[in-house]
Amino acid sequence: MKILQITDPHLYGNAAGALRGVVTDASLRHALDDAYARVPEFAALLVTGDLVQDDASGYLRFRSIFGNSPKPVLCVPGNHDEPEAMRRELSQAPFQICGSWSSQGWQIVMLDSYDPGHVGGRLTGGELERLDRALAGSPRHAMVCLHHHPVAMGSRWLDNIGLANSEDFWRVIDAHPHVRAVVWGHVHQEYDGKRGKVRLLATPSTGAQFVPGSDRFAVDSRPPAYRPLELHADGRIETEVRWVESLPLRQSAAAAR
Ligand SMILES: [Fe+2]
Repeated sequence: MKILQITDPHLYGNAAGALRGVVTDASLRHALDDAYARVPEFAALLVTGDLVQDDASGYLRFRSIFGNSPKPVLCVPGNHDEPEAMRRELSQAPFQICGSWSSQGWQIVMLDSYDPGHVGGRLTGGELERLDRALAGSPRHAMVCLHHHPVAMGSRWLDNIGLANSEDFWRVIDAHPHVRAVVWGHVHQEYDGKRGKVRLLATPSTGAQFVPGSDRFAVDSRPPAYRPLELHADGRIETEVRWVESLPLRQSAAAAR
């Protein structure tokens, strides 16, 4: 089963809205064109937060891009989202916000790590209980998704705005050995590691990226990206980040009109 992860599109209500020099709507559409052409068969889209850039009208734009998707669009909120507006505007199929989704022996559990007033994330006691319950009733293999990174990325500024209570998170995950992977956004860079037998995956944004390993906030010149995940029946995961060529600025501005 293939899942297509895209993350951190940071949309605005205005199609011309730009963040760190990237017109976010045009850049997302450009990444999607590549993804749909290269991965025509997928079971669901997974969007790991920051759907919008502090702009609730960005959800209308998100809906205009994904509203006709024949496949489920599974979403979690990020720190730049507005969860109430997100739930209101994306309340119907194909959208699903948090909860869990199962198919072909796999369960995808989506967590809400949004912490009001903070850039970093936190899982409430209720959300941790929900994770524990969902995994207890899970099929053979599970993949857990959230916006904030639950392990250090080796980047001082980013590691101050990760998942604040990651120890609580790992306590639940460690109790369920059928969790094969934890997948996140937020860090606008690629990461592929392991914690015990659990694969740890972060995916670059469909817009601008951050410089890996940097002590201070720094924008990378790398292009937009997305991540296909192939989830096998025996629990194996095959995945790699696909980088898309950056749109020339002129073209990105024209696409936004
Ligand atoms: Fe982001």
